[in-house]
Amino acid sequence: MRLLVTGGAGFIGSNFVRYVLSRYADYEVLNLDKLTYAGNLENLEGLENHPRHTFFHGDICDPDLVGDVLKRGVDAVVNFAAESHVDRSILDASDFARTNVVGALNLLEPSRKNRILRFLQISTDEVYGSLGPTGAFVESSPIAPNSPYAATKAAADLLVRSYHHTYGFPAIITRCSNNYGPYQFPEKLMPLLITNALAGLSLPLYGDGLYVRDWIHVQDHCAAVDRILHHGKSGEVYNIGARQEMANLEIARLILKSLGKPESLITLVKDRPGHDRRYAIDPSKLKQALGWKPRISFHMGLQETIDWYRHNAAWVEHVRSGAYLSYYDRMYGQRQKTLSEL
Ligand code: NAD
Ligand code: DAU
Repeated sequence: MRLLVTGGAGFIGSNFVRYVLSRYADYEVLNLDKLTYAGNLENLEGLENHPRHTFFHGDICDPDLVGDVLKRGVDAVVNFAAESHVDRSILDASDFARTNVVGALNLLEPSRKNRILRFLQISTDEVYGSLGPTGAFVESSPIAPNSPYAATKAAADLLVRSYHHTYGFPAIITRCSNNYGPYQFPEKLMPLLITNALAGLSLPLYGDGLYVRDWIHVQDHCAAVDRILHHGKSGEVYNIGARQEMANLEIARLILKSLGKPESLITLVKDRPGHDRRYAIDPSKLKQALGWKPRISFHMGLQETIDWYRHNAAWVEHVRSGAYLSYYDRMYGQRQKTLSEL
């Protein structure tokens, strides 16, 4: 199978590329990534000369490039590419609309024309909006996005849905809860808290710190995407989650305890505008229909994740200093040409 993975230099995409290459000895991955601030080739370290991994530096909004890549005989597309950080979308949503909506359409249309066998749209539980103290999102929960980021992801979901309904296009939407694990850009809560705690810096928590997220290890997310890619039903939506709800304050405390740092590092700061109070995913459909279940307990996964950031100080330093941005030139000099120039 030849897979086109978009956004494969980001957090989840790079974990997925590694997952696929190690699990399937005969699969080939074409990895298309724009390398925005969130795309980091150090996330793909060791795969530079992998015979079944080809990296393309480019934008999913570029129709010529997407067309050229698809012509290489792609069987399935997994679209991870996105602007993904809620706080940035609150400051300026234009890149979010461009990549998350226009980019998704720009993948859908040529994929349809090239008769792609499977198209996976990696969406998010944030399209469902916020929950009160009880209950969990199911696939039929109303779409009610609250942040500009979530609104653009919801818009893409609706386009994907329409492609299946109108053209019978073999698309599936996945909606996962908050991921954590290695290679996550430290603007997101988990790596921000861990790397700040390691450096003895304060741990900023928005508002009262009691906002709740439902956490899943990125490896469990990758395994779910794999299962859906191979066995999911076209036109369906699958929620992905590990039923691991946790308040932000509780996570901060666990990290500090694990690292032997004082709780006085926790600092309550100004709240995020429109901050969703609670997310919780009901993954029953995925479990019952496709037999997936998460394997990594939160406490084990959190400890492994803390250890990963502690033992990968160079990765953290390069991300924080911006040095990772020059990695492309060092490792991929030749491939800076666009595909059509090759
Ligand atoms: P990320 O920000 O770490 O990575 C996004 C990647 O997309 C980066 O490598 C970036 O360079 C690339 N990209 C951005 N714009 C592009 C464009 N126009 N063309 C090509 N590449 C582009 O994000 P992530 O956390 O890995 O999330 C991946 C996907 O999973 C996103 O679609 C996100 O909405 C979804 N998701 C994330 C989570 C989470 O907790 N992180 C949970 C559920 C769903
Ligand atoms: O639920 C899935 C979503 O999870 C994905 O679709 C998004 O791409 C991903 O970024 C994530 O969104 P969140 O907004 O939930 O993640 P973030 O890490 O930004 O924040 C998690 C919680 O921590 C949230 O309640 C806000 C809070 N927070 C965040 C930061 C960055 C803080 O309290 N302090 C912080 O400094």
